[in-house]
Formats: sequence, structure tokens, C-alpha cells
Amino acid sequence: MAAPMLTCRLLLMLLAFLADLCTFPRCELFSGEYNTTIEAVSQPTVVITILVRNKAHVLPWFLGHLEKLDYPKHRIGLWIRNDHSIDDSAVILQEWVDAVRNQYHFIDLEINNTETGFSDEKGACDWSVERFDHVIKLRQEALNFARRKWADYLFMLDADIVLENKDTLTLLMAEKKIIVGPMLNASIGETYSNFWAGMDNKGYYQRKPEYFPVVNRETLGSFPVPMVHSAVLMDLRYKITEKLAYDPPPKNYRGPIDDIIIFAHSIKSEGLVMHILNTEYFGQVLIPMGTHNTLTDDVEQFHYVQLEAMDNYPGLSVSPHVNFRPRPKDTLGFDQVYMINLVRRQERRDRMMKSFDILGIDAKVLDAVDGKLLNETYLKKLGVQMMPGYADPYHVRPLTMGEIGCFLSHYKIWEDMLDNNYERIIVFEDDVRFEPYFRRKFFNMMREVDTKVPDWDLLYIGRKRLHRSEEWVDGSEQLVWPSYSYWTLSYLLSRRGATKLVQQRPLQKMIPVDEYLPIMFDRHPEDDWKKNFYPRNLVGVSAEPLLVNPTHYTGEVNYISDTEDSHTVDTDIEGHDEL
Ligand SMILES: *[C@@H]1O[C@H](CO)[C@@H](O)[C@H](O)[C@H]1NC(C)=O
Ligand SMILES: *[C@@H]1O[C@H](CO)[C@@H](O)[C@H](O)[C@H]1NC(C)=O
Ligand SMILES: *[C@@H]1O[C@H](CO)[C@@H](O)[C@H](O)[C@H]1NC(C)=O
Ligand SMILES: *[C@@H]1O[C@H](CO)[C@@H](O)[C@H](O)[C@H]1NC(C)=O
Repeated sequence: MAAPMLTCRLLLMLLAFLADLCTFPRCELFSGEYNTTIEAVSQPTVVITILVRNKAHVLPWFLGHLEKLDYPKHRIGLWIRNDHSIDDSAVILQEWVDAVRNQYHFIDLEINNTETGFSDEKGACDWSVERFDHVIKLRQEALNFARRKWADYLFMLDADIVLENKDTLTLLMAEKKIIVGPMLNASIGETYSNFWAGMDNKGYYQRKPEYFPVVNRETLGSFPVPMVHSAVLMDLRYKITEKLAYDPPPKNYRGPIDDIIIFAHSIKSEGLVMHILNTEYFGQVLIPMGTHNTLTDDVEQFHYVQLEAMDNYPGLSVSPHVNFRPRPKDTLGFDQVYMINLVRRQERRDRMMKSFDILGIDAKVLDAVDGKLLNETYLKKLGVQMMPGYADPYHVRPLTMGEIGCFLSHYKIWEDMLDNNYERIIVFEDDVRFEPYFRRKFFNMMREVDTKVPDWDLLYIGRKRLHRSEEWVDGSEQLVWPSYSYWTLSYLLSRRGATKLVQQRPLQKMIPVDEYLPIMFDRHPEDDWKKNFYPRNLVGVSAEPLLVNPTHYTGEVNYISDTEDSHTVDTDIEGHDEL
């Protein structure tokens, strides 16, 4: 038994000896099967530089999407500067940086908000000379910093963009351009983006016909342009980039003191060109605010971005590392804001509540009367009767249970308002899209209606106009006298108005609620219907343009009408003489 043991041991020793031999470079026994297909190298290093002033309203989303970039974080260093802010920017940045610091190669954050403004600026959205000077110096600092860090790439990113495309960095790098930026969509449906197709001799923006096919994505690719801003990737490995500068500007520079224009000239003077890449949707850029705009306008602009993104897949992501600060809510100066929603339409309810959260509106949900659950016994109990001779002029049919439910829902609100002695209320249905700058427009409109039509009863802010031209309220640019209209999407009601609507006992001669309102402000074309109601002295006004629109228009995919598709009322309810 001993002999085989020994042989085995000898064999092992021999093997160990051979293995030792192989640690020498030139091992003859296991000659170099070097796996040449292993070519993985680390991704290039990137320094991302971010300047932040008063961006608390965007930062949680800006950072949320920055985090989501599909690029190894240990190959990214961040350089962040926050100054001259009066909002929560510093708190948010600090919170975030504390949470993610270890994930990135480094984060260099400096916050200095001892000064909150520049002596020569007219407001927080004004780009004064001092402010430009300051930003130019910061941008030069950022550039120097990235060079000192031996970064392969510098990605200059403004805090008022939301980079939704997680592949942005990789896609830009794949272009192998010295300077390239992702084309961003404008936050509000204007033809605006973060590039110029033309620049005049002085360095100012020049609109060129070439701009449109690119911005509208009719031609796709990366295009040489004189200006890209807000999100710019530069390959610092090209030696020529060492000559680029914000400060000092290029020799003989006579253009405006403006960081992006100076840099564009610096690039041009080195014989380089920027590129804009539009092959994909990358994200959104907020439209810069003018001198007369306020920070509130900027905040509202971002609300609109959020509202729009809500209906898009996958929507905007907020950073999980930033404490969510719920926006304070109010009732827009009214006694109550109602939102009518069918319990079974939970997704609409959620969407509306999210919209209200974004807009800071405190709304009370009113469970709509569901036409599907209505029955004759109940309607009899309420004393509901159809208006004699009513037939939908379009479809030629009597009221549907859905329409009755809808009427009853609005009626419940009018009664609730009177029971509670509310002076003024707002009613929203649950399929509303808010216009950009909703709050500002709303308050402007209220100021106007309160001086120009102080005795208003009903004010539409969302409806379907049936006549093209309507008469303006004297001296107003925001209000019209509405003619025959459909829908009760959104309206404001005064107590006087509610009283007028209820006093007519409309349940006993019911027609659809959106026919009832025009009858009551006496702009209904059907005389036969009108004569059932008197006096028709409701003072009806409408916002022009409207402040809200429906999420889906009839005929569009996803359009579901809760009022028109339900079954019609049985004849014993329909005929008033039966009850
Ligand atoms: C060589 O490396 C590649 C890439 O990692 C791998 O897919 C492949 O299987 C390796 N080949 C051998 C023979 O180990
Ligand atoms: C903060 O900024 C002000 C000017 O805005 C400057 O005077 C001050 O030195 C700065 N503080 C620090 C610590 O950098
Ligand atoms: C972005 O803009 C393009 C036009 O350039 C448009 O087709 C596209 O729908 C927009 N995408 C989003 C998500 O807004
Ligand atoms: C009719 O509707 C009322 C109110 O929704 C409900 O309480 C009642 O049970 C219903 N009756 C029948 C027979 O469905």
C-alpha cells in the first residue's frame, strides 16, 4: 500500500516543480496561451462640471437622471459649484453629494451663497454683465480643473436640463468628435434647442434654414454647428483643446461678454467646430428666462415639464438621495377646489392628484355619481326627470345614464358650495391637461375678471368652443363672452352663480350639464330648450386662451367618454309624465 502513496506524492512534487517553472516568463512547458481576445479596457474618465444657481425646483430630477447615466461612476468625477442662490439648492446638493460621494471617483462641491445677487442685475433671471463675468470665470475654472485631473473628457452640464437618455455619454463618445452635444427638446413646445445653426458677425444668434430639419429631427446625425450649449462633451485628449478658453477670450474678440459665445469663438478661432447630435431623444432643456421673468416663472416652467412627462413613459425620475419636499398647496385663493372623478377611474384620479401636487393645488376629490350604478328607483327618489323634448341633437337620442351621473355630480358640488356658504369654487373634471404657467395665467386672469367683470357667475377655464369668433370682454386680452360651448372640463363658480343654477330645479327637467350652462348664460341655440328655464341670467365668462385642455380628444386613441358610452335611460325615467 505504501508504494502507490509514494508515487502519488512524487507526482505531486513534480507537478509543483513544473508549476513553479511556469511562473518564469519563458516557460517552455505551457507555452503562452495568452488570451488575445481580452481587450477590455477601462472606459475613459469624465469630469462633469455643473453650475447651479436657484435650481432647487429642478435639482431632484436633474440629479435623478445624472445618477441614471449608464456609465461607470468610478470613472466619473463631479465638480459642482453653487452660488448666489436664495432657494434650497445648497441643501439639496449637499444632501445628494453626502449620499453618493463614494460611488463617484470624486465629487468636488463648493457652495457659497453669502451673496444672493449681482449689484447690476434686475432680477434672478437677468443675465447682467457682472453675472456673465462671474460665470465666465467659473467655466474657465471648470475647464482648468478637468485638465488638472487629466480627465479624458469634460462634460459641461447645466442644471436646467433633464438628461433623460441614460446612454447620452456613451452615444456622444461614440461620435468621436472633439466637441459634441446632445440635442435637447425645449421644455415648452417652442422651436428652441441648445444649439444654433447660425451666428452673425457680432456673435449673436442667427436663424438659418438648416436649423429646422435638425431641430425637428427630419435629418438625423451629428451636424457641425457654430454653437452648442447647456450640455457639451469635449474630448480633452486632443491636444488642440488645450488652447480653448473662456477667460481670456480669443485675441481680437469683439463680441458680447457671454460665456457660451466667447467659448464658441475660441473653438472657431482654433479652426474647430462643435457638433450637435440628434439621433435620439436625449432630454429637455428649460427655455431661458428673460430679464422680466422671475424665479417663479422658471419654477412654473419646470412644473410644465413635469406635467408633460407624467403622461410619457417612463417619465421623470427624482433622485432617491434627495429628501422629497412636498410643495406647499393652496386653493388658488378660492374656498374650495373640487375634482370630479369616478371611483372606478383610479388612474385618472392618481394622475390628477399628481398634477395637483406638482402645481401646488389643494383639491378635494368628489366621487362622481356613476352612471353605471344608477337605477330608476334612485333617480325617482331624487326627483330626476328629463326635459321634455330633449334629444341629443348630434346623436338624436335621450340622455344616457352617464350624462345623468355627470349632471348629478356637478349638481352635488353646487349644493355642497351653497351648504358650506362658499363664495367661490373651482371645479375640475378628471381628464385635464394644464397649460404652461398655469398658476401665473390663472392669477392674471383672476385679477382681470375681478376688475372687468366683478359680477361674474361662471368662468370657464376649459371647454369646447363651438363658435370660432367670440366677443372679447371690453378692454381684456384674456377674457371673452363665451358663446354656445360644450364640456364642463373646468370652471369657476361664484355663490351667486350656483344659486342661479340650483334655483332652476334642473333635476326635474334634466339635459346634459354642458347644455344647461349655455342655456343659463343664454347662448344656447335651441329656443325650445331655453324656454324651460327663466331667467337665464347667469353671467358667463371664459378664459381666452383656455387654461386647461382635455387629455384626450374625442376620436383619439385612449379616448373614453364616461358620459356618452353608457346606456340610455329607460323610457319610464325619460318621460316626465311617468313620474
Ligand atoms: C478569452 O476572453 C474572452 C473575453 O473575455 C472570452 O469570451 C473567451 O472565452 C476567452 N477565451 C479563452 C480561451 O479563455
Ligand atoms: C463667497 O463669495 C463671496 C462673493 O460672492 C466672496 O466675497 C467670499 O470670499 C466667498 N467665500 C468663500 C469662502 O469663498
Ligand atoms: C422631442 O422633439 C422631437 C422633435 O425634434 C419630437 O419629435 C419628439 O416627440 C420630442 N420628444 C419628447 C419626448 O418631447
Ligand atoms: C339603486 O341605487 C341606489 C343608490 O346608488 C342604491 O342604494 C340601491 O341599492 C340601488 N337599487 C338597486 C335595485 O340596484
